[in-house]
Amino acid sequence: MLFLLLPLLAVLPGGENADGFKEPVSFRVIQISSFYNHSWKRNLGSGWLGDLQTHTWDSNSSTIIFLWPWSRGNFSSEEWMDLDTLFRLYFIRFSEAVHRHTGDLIFEYPFEIQVTAGCEVYSGKLSGSFFRVAHQGSDFMSFQNNSCLPSPLAGNAAKRVCKVHQHQRNKDLIHHLFSDTCPRLLLGLLDAGKAHLQRQVKPEAWLSLGPSPGPGRLLLVCHVSGFYPKPVWVRWMRGEQEQPGTKQGDILPNADGTWYLQATLEVAAGEAADLSCRVKHSSLEGQDIVLYWEHHNSVGLIILAVIVPLLLLIVCLALWFRKCCSFNAKYMCFKSTYPW
Ligand SMILES: *[C@@H]1O[C@H](CO)[C@@H](O)[C@H](O)[C@H]1NC(C)=O
Ligand SMILES: *[C@@H]1O[C@H](CO)[C@@H](O)[C@H](O)[C@H]1NC(C)=O
Ligand SMILES: *[C@@H]1O[C@H](CO)[C@@H](O)[C@H](O)[C@H]1NC(C)=O
Ligand SMILES: *[C@@H]1O[C@H](CO)[C@@H](O)[C@H](O)[C@H]1NC(C)=O
Repeated sequence: MLFLLLPLLAVLPGGENADGFKEPVSFRVIQISSFYNHSWKRNLGSGWLGDLQTHTWDSNSSTIIFLWPWSRGNFSSEEWMDLDTLFRLYFIRFSEAVHRHTGDLIFEYPFEIQVTAGCEVYSGKLSGSFFRVAHQGSDFMSFQNNSCLPSPLAGNAAKRVCKVHQHQRNKDLIHHLFSDTCPRLLLGLLDAGKAHLQRQVKPEAWLSLGPSPGPGRLLLVCHVSGFYPKPVWVRWMRGEQEQPGTKQGDILPNADGTWYLQATLEVAAGEAADLSCRVKHSSLEGQDIVLYWEHHNSVGLIILAVIVPLLLLIVCLALWFRKCCSFNAKYMCFKSTYPW
């Protein structure tokens, strides 16, 4: 199994290994439950392999929806039906428990509860599991080794909820889910989805000018988009010299599952000329993308040099047709198209 991960790990020249699919790899279930009033609630559920969503809970039919052809991993239909049933019961019990606590005045309508739970695998073996609950966007409580820990920031409410859930039934079932079902599912997904997870998609890169940081200063922006996997290296360079002022944003998701990043550099207006943006990514196989700021500018000039006379020509032609072809008009037209 580890062999599948190696190509994902050994991605970048210089040993740089940003986020991406590096180990440990996690599988998590995310639940977002909104309670508007005691008769109106909404449960959203989803399953995630690392950063990639693989499953959705369809609360209408109370079934799991598979977002990728490989989202079933190596589980049988029976095992997935059992999981459907398990989640159906879980959501019912969860709502009942929450209603009890609104009776205890721990939660007041409207409120939102978020749960993230799952496991981590390292070198093909379970390396950890987690179960965290948030109320109104803040940590509320977590379960570790089957015991409930109230979040220190959540005050007495979390302590009271934990007290009730200290002696939870189904301990064996929960233990089995986290220490057996979850890592098996995760490893099965990594295997079934490996063609997709190990694909290589080349980035596109372009330069632009950001909002001016001040008089006589420029903000150069290098955009890198559409790459997969996530680890990438982007720097502003002067010759072979990395510019330490390079600021990198967060790596953001594109809708198609690829990634986007921008790197900016603030410079004095006169110092931009010989700067370039360099992009290294595993899909480029060592052929780094290098974009020069000068060329970027001259591309702008070329566009200007082509577009402006073209527009003038079109305006002139329009005028020429309107003015009924007097010799004078033709002459004017010729003159203003080619002002030199
Ligand atoms: C609960 O909230 C929903 C949505 O806002 C509303 O349509 C409904 O009338 C409310 N029910 C009660 C009993 O307040
Ligand atoms: C569930 O049903 C509602 C109402 O029919 C619909 O708006 C919603 O999109 C459905 N949800 C899913 C996940 O199909
Ligand atoms: C959970 O249990 C394991 C083994 O029983 C132990 O090594 C670990 O420290 C425990 N973790 C916590 C947070 O209690
Ligand atoms: C699925 O793959 C995992 C990891 O290779 C393995 O442990 C498990 O036995 C396989 N089968 C099922 C049904 O989980």
